[in-house]
Amino acid sequence: MKKLLIVLAICLAFGVTAAFADGTALYDSKCAKCHGQDGAKVSGMSGGVMLKGQSAADIQTKLLGYKAGSYGGDKKKTMMRMADKLTEQEISDLADHIGGL
Ligand code: HEC
Repeated sequence: MKKLLIVLAICLAFGVTAAFADGTALYDSKCAKCHGQDGAKVSGMSGGVMLKGQSAADIQTKLLGYKAGSYGGDKKKTMMRMADKLTEQEISDLADHIGGL
C-alpha cells in the first residue's frame, strides 16, 4: 500500500510539472488531435508523417520552414496555417516538447 502511494505521488509530481511546461500544454491543445498526444499518430490527418522520434532541432527547422513557406509536402497548407499563428518562442517550446516524446 505504501509503495502504491509513493508511485502515485511520483506520477502526480510529473503530471504537474508537465502541465506547467508551455510546450506540453500548447501541444496537447493545438497539435495532439492530428499528431496524437504521444506524437506517434500517423494518418491522413497527420499527413502521413510521424513526429515522435524526430529531434527538437529538426522539428524547429520544419516549423520555421512552414512559417516561412519554405518547407512542406502535399498537405503543407494545413501546417502553414498552424505555424503562422505560432511565435518563435512557441515553436521553440513545442520543438523541445516533441523532441522529448
Ligand atoms: C489539422 C491537423 C493538424 C494539426 C492540428 C497539426 N498538424 Fe502538423 N501536420 C499536419 C499535416 C497534414 C502535416 C503534413 C504537411 C505536409 O504535407 O507538409 C503535418 C506536418 C507537421 C510537421 C512536419 C513533419 C515532417 O517530418 O515533415 C511538424 C513538425 C508538425 N506537423 C508539427 C505540428 C505542431 C507542432 C502542431 C501544433 C501547433 C501541429 N503540427 C498541428 C496536420 C496537423
